[in-house]
Amino acid sequence: MEYQLYPSMLSADFNRLGQQLQTLEQQGIKWLHIDVMDGDFVPSISFGMPVIKSIRQESNMLFDVHLMITEPERYVQDFVACGADSITVHAEACEDLERTVARIRDAGVKVGVAVKPATSVTDISYILKDIDMLLIMTVQPGFGGQKYIEDSTEKICQARQMLKDEKIELPIQVDGGINRETLPLVLEAGASQIVAGSCVFSGDLAGNAEEIRRLISQYAERA
Ligand code: DX5
Ligand code: ZN
Repeated sequence: MEYQLYPSMLSADFNRLGQQLQTLEQQGIKWLHIDVMDGDFVPSISFGMPVIKSIRQESNMLFDVHLMITEPERYVQDFVACGADSITVHAEACEDLERTVARIRDAGVKVGVAVKPATSVTDISYILKDIDMLLIMTVQPGFGGQKYIEDSTEKICQARQMLKDEKIELPIQVDGGINRETLPLVLEAGASQIVAGSCVFSGDLAGNAEEIRRLISQYAERA
């Protein structure tokens, strides 16, 4: 199991975006989490292809694109073309999840499926063997800086157990409200891909990234 910190660009200072991404890369961050919102699947609107295309030219990090958009199948090719290395879609947003997953796979990038807090992982058990990552949202998708939903810990544990029972090797990603306090909970529950926005970008970016990566590696060494 590979444990990684996925800084979420949503919390970046967009006036200094290039510089901040450089800082993360210098800190050894491998994956950047990129939140795309459409104002329909979620209430807010973030950014889209032109921004991703532009940072792709400057960054060597891998791009983990989290699509919080209705019918994401329509845009798979566009996000691959602008530089995504992995595309995650919401189970709730797809008319045909299997077809959407197949389309992402055919486009040659990694594929993740996300579930909102109210969606059970058992509802999508049929797809788990066909994907590269399961994203368990630990807040309602749509905004950075929200409080971790406590029930998520049990949900992650149950998903991890279910995957073990079914003998499926699948990393669990968590996203929302992860900070120095909630990090041990999600790691212990079985998550290995840790998305964090506000707790990485607020204040000393390099220092935060270094510290959170260290906490994750310390756990990984013991696990
Ligand atoms: C929320 C996004 C998250 C968000 C996390 O819908 O998917 O990636 O940026 O932000 P924090 O870590 O601040 O909760
Ligand atoms: Zn996200």
